[in-house]
Amino acid sequence: MKIALSTHAPLGTEADLLALGVKSDRLQKDPTLKAIDDALGGALQRLIADDSFKGTLGETLTIAAPHGLKAARFVLIGLGSGTFTSRDARAFGAKAAQVASRLGTLAVVSPATTDAQLRALAEGLATGSYRYTQYLTGDRKPKRQLSEITVLVSAKASKDARAALDDGLAVAESMNLARDLVNAPPNDLHPVAFAQIAKTEAHKLGLECTVLDEKAMEKRGMHLLLAVARGSSAKPRFVHIKYVPKKPKKGAKKVVFVGKGLTFDSGGLCIKPGKSMIEMKCDMGGAAVTLATVLAAARLQLPVEVHGILACVENMPDGDAYRPGDVFPSLDGKTVEIINTDAEGRLVLADALAYARELEPDFLIDHATLTGACMVALGAFTAGLFANDEDLAKKYAAAAAESGESYWRLPLTDELRETLKSDIADLKHMGDAHGGAITAALFLREFVGKTKWAHLDIAGPTFADRARSIYPKGGTGFGVLTALNFLEQLA
Ligand code: BES
Ligand code: MN
Ligand code: ZN
Repeated sequence: MKIALSTHAPLGTEADLLALGVKSDRLQKDPTLKAIDDALGGALQRLIADDSFKGTLGETLTIAAPHGLKAARFVLIGLGSGTFTSRDARAFGAKAAQVASRLGTLAVVSPATTDAQLRALAEGLATGSYRYTQYLTGDRKPKRQLSEITVLVSAKASKDARAALDDGLAVAESMNLARDLVNAPPNDLHPVAFAQIAKTEAHKLGLECTVLDEKAMEKRGMHLLLAVARGSSAKPRFVHIKYVPKKPKKGAKKVVFVGKGLTFDSGGLCIKPGKSMIEMKCDMGGAAVTLATVLAAARLQLPVEVHGILACVENMPDGDAYRPGDVFPSLDGKTVEIINTDAEGRLVLADALAYARELEPDFLIDHATLTGACMVALGAFTAGLFANDEDLAKKYAAAAAESGESYWRLPLTDELRETLKSDIADLKHMGDAHGGAITAALFLREFVGKTKWAHLDIAGPTFADRARSIYPKGGTGFGVLTALNFLEQLA
């Protein structure tokens, strides 16, 4: 995607689509709207007068072949009322690009008044036209897709403005990668393929990336992760990618992200019914967000050391699959009794968190499509946020408020800890029927020691059955924006 800055007048700008955002309380006052309306012979004000367009957030009004404009189409986009924020700029950009996604070129009149808003606008523009087309052939293959965007600004753009757009593009590229990974079919995106993609992307940016195969994992003692992998003929991979700032500042923070990377979750011997299995290619969404976040941190050259740990495995039933009743030692030494082989994510994460803890991060953060119970509690659009540290929980919630992604804090209820007691091992890996998202988080807590840690249960928002706000249908890339805001907050 190319984004150019220009001081061209909107009326004279050639493009397949010209987009203008307008606030609901400025429908009569906006000078650009007035200029375009004059060129259209008053058509916009007539449509506004009969309530065809009110300017509510995300509302659109498209006019084809508008006389008096050089653009082939024109779209008016509602910005709602109240103070205009970066979130609104991102939503506007995404909407404009969604409308233009099957066209070639788009020009937008920039609604941004700050460089932060300009960056958010670029994030929206470059993620809004996202489509997953890799497996389409013949007539289904898109003939055109949005490739060039011009952002129209009134004054000559500064160097900082250009840099803001480039930052936005970098973030968008990472988010789109996370979406591609979630959308990729699990026969092709198996753990070995995932690790290879991580390595290739890391090397493009000059980042260190270590991949452990099953032998190396065995040697270290990652027996919980290996237990989950046993039922699949696809080999597991454990990826450690690392970004270190070029000129590290004194006191710079170190953050380690961990991602659940189940490239497919059949449930194992406790097999899922077909209806619940169909979406389970999305069960590597945590690893996708983790990889995307580290890559974006590197592209943005954030002054924070950022590591990503991707635990990539497939959960399948087989003669050699792990069973309910089995006991395995974890990387940190505790023994775990297996109850239900479909609660595989917490096992994989237990070993990954124990590994990550050894890196002695200031903050340890995991993303995981961990429990259906979290979706029951919060709905499909909201992630569960658990933390063993108040300051970290506050910082993460603040980062989420800026990104517009929906997180809700859930408690690590100490009383439920006893439901994880096993008769024959140190722990069993599941609690009782109630509070499933919490008992899963409590199980993870056993492996982080005293490290400041947050667990993000993204089972709901990772995969969408329809397009909504800035997110497309399918893989959403949810989580990347908030993780990056969190890192920038530490900078
Ligand atoms: N990957 C699933 C959780 C999930 C469900 C993610 C729906 C995305 C959408 C996880 O491995 C799982 O199967 N969890 C079980 C746990 C149960 C067996 C304790 C669940 O939520 O039913
Ligand atoms: Mn499962
Ligand atoms: Zn799973």
